[in-house]
Amino acid sequence: GWKMEDVLEEELKIIKETVGPDDHVICGLSGGVDSTVAATLVHKAIGDRLHCAFVDNGLLRFKERARVMETFEKDLHLPVTCIDATEQFLSKLKGVTEPEKKRKIIGNEFICIFDAFAHDLEKKLQRKPLYLVQGTLYPDVIESCPPPGSGRTHSHTIKSHHNVGGLPKDMKLKLIEPLKLLFKDEVRELGRIMGVPVSFLKRHPFPGPGLAVRVPGDVTEGNRLDILRKADDIFIQAIKDAGIYDSIWQAFAVFMPVLTVGVQGDQRTHSYAIALRAVTSHDGMTADWYYFDHKFLADLSTRICNEVQGVNRVLLDITSKPPATIEWE
Ligand code: XMP
Repeated sequence: GWKMEDVLEEELKIIKETVGPDDHVICGLSGGVDSTVAATLVHKAIGDRLHCAFVDNGLLRFKERARVMETFEKDLHLPVTCIDATEQFLSKLKGVTEPEKKRKIIGNEFICIFDAFAHDLEKKLQRKPLYLVQGTLYPDVIESCPPPGSGRTHSHTIKSHHNVGGLPKDMKLKLIEPLKLLFKDEVRELGRIMGVPVSFLKRHPFPGPGLAVRVPGDVTEGNRLDILRKADDIFIQAIKDAGIYDSIWQAFAVFMPVLTVGVQGDQRTHSYAIALRAVTSHDGMTADWYYFDHKFLADLSTRICNEVQGVNRVLLDITSKPPATIEWE
């Protein structure tokens, strides 16, 4: 087989040959493995002529912005601008309950914000950034355009639902897709030899629309997002403590927008429910729900009700894909 060190050398050479000595490159970081590894690679090749943006859309998990920014800056020394667009996203999502509408609004906002980032940069540098880095993988390429014959071939198709919100429209950026011949495991290995922390490389997938697809209905009502973040963090931490995180494809909490009656202390409560979802899968196309130990579930349920104000009931999602999807929206 091919050694990843050789792939790294080859990729660095290609990027250096492609990007001219005065050219600037932009990259949207999602906080996921692919964009992080792609940016790290390009940064190794051209240094601070790379300009990354990370957008906080207000739909991130517990302390996620601080955690990923620490990885970008302290571990990887990436030149990254953190854009807090929480208000912008949440005001657009106010009152919206239709799942596809929610996704579309979020996708459009990403494009607007990234567009503004690119234009600000142009003013600052007094020149247009010429290239855009995308973390497209080989499976994305074959999914959008099956290559003729066997072996790995290049293709210029971009997945239409790409996470970080597509291309700034009027900038005519050329694409750099340094991962487009690699599979996910190879991307992790490439990241590892460039110093991306292994704990970061092993993180479960997280959807572009973030927690919006884990709060059915209006995400902005009350403190739904905060309740969800707290319950989700307890769940994920318990999974890590039990040593089962790496055996699970994805695990997360879902906010149930339904009020039910409970008794907590000697008080009657009328509070929300939280559902727990954990699945095993190879590619996310099909999935089985994960069999937890009963004691683990019992302790978790107690902890979530005790520690998360506004929750008095915990449910377990025992549906495979199909018929359900992994996410709830
Ligand atoms: P579903 O819910 O369709 O999800 O069974 C399959 C996998 O895709 C992830 N997912 C997304 N990823 N943008 C993404 O980058 C999205 O809009 C999106 N929707 C779902 C999901 O987390 C699971 O891993």
